Amino acid sequence: MSESKIPTPHIGAGEGEIAESILLPGDPLRAKYIADNFLTDAAQFNATRNMLGFTGFYKGKRVSVMGTGMGCPSIGIYSYELIHFYGCRNLIRVGTAGALRPDVKVRDLVFGMGACTTSNYVKQFRLPGDYSCICSFELLEKAVSAARERGLEYHVGNILSSDMFYNPDLPPAGTTWDRMGVLAVEMESAALYSNAAYGGANALCILTVSDSLVTGEATTAEERQTSFTDMMEVALELV
Ligand code: HPA
Repeated sequence: MSESKIPTPHIGAGEGEIAESILLPGDPLRAKYIADNFLTDAAQFNATRNMLGFTGFYKGKRVSVMGTGMGCPSIGIYSYELIHFYGCRNLIRVGTAGALRPDVKVRDLVFGMGACTTSNYVKQFRLPGDYSCICSFELLEKAVSAARERGLEYHVGNILSSDMFYNPDLPPAGTTWDRMGVLAVEMESAALYSNAAYGGANALCILTVSDSLVTGEATTAEERQTSFTDMMEVALELV
């Protein structure tokens, strides 16, 4: 199962300390919050670079949670080590995104069926063409039925993994991205999906819309908490 020696340069866990299914928020303190509030018997497995990681149980099923940091290079490192060295099979990113289309409202859920990107990350697999970064259909199906059962507002489609949060001259809303159906922008999924494909693992990105690049609206702290809980209930159904 494992390709090399553990601990890895970026994850200090020993053999068997990380579950096959792992939730991946960007913020390591979010990982701690998830472990403290949603899991039972959680034990910390990583503190290297303060990228906190925990393994515990949800409804009797073993599950891990770890921060990824921001951007394709950061999630690229962590997801590679989780898949190739720790045997993770189901990697579920739980994050936030900016809406690119008027029908995608703040607080809605977005399931990233595909991830377009401005990053060079995927090009470095050196394929003789453009790779389509897609999620696991099995995880997506389960997530969609969990959202439907709960009556949550959700969208399924393409997202954009951007390398630039503060883009000086091309905010992606109002461009060809949204014309071509891209729902929302974030910064990590293309690296996660391509790494999962390369490593034969399953990945899905679940996002709550924290702000709209169409209207300028942003969620309040209270709204962010409620939509975060909605997203977690869906994500935990997948483990
Ligand atoms: N850009 C990139 N990532 C994001 C955004 C955004 O506007 N909002 C939330 N994550």
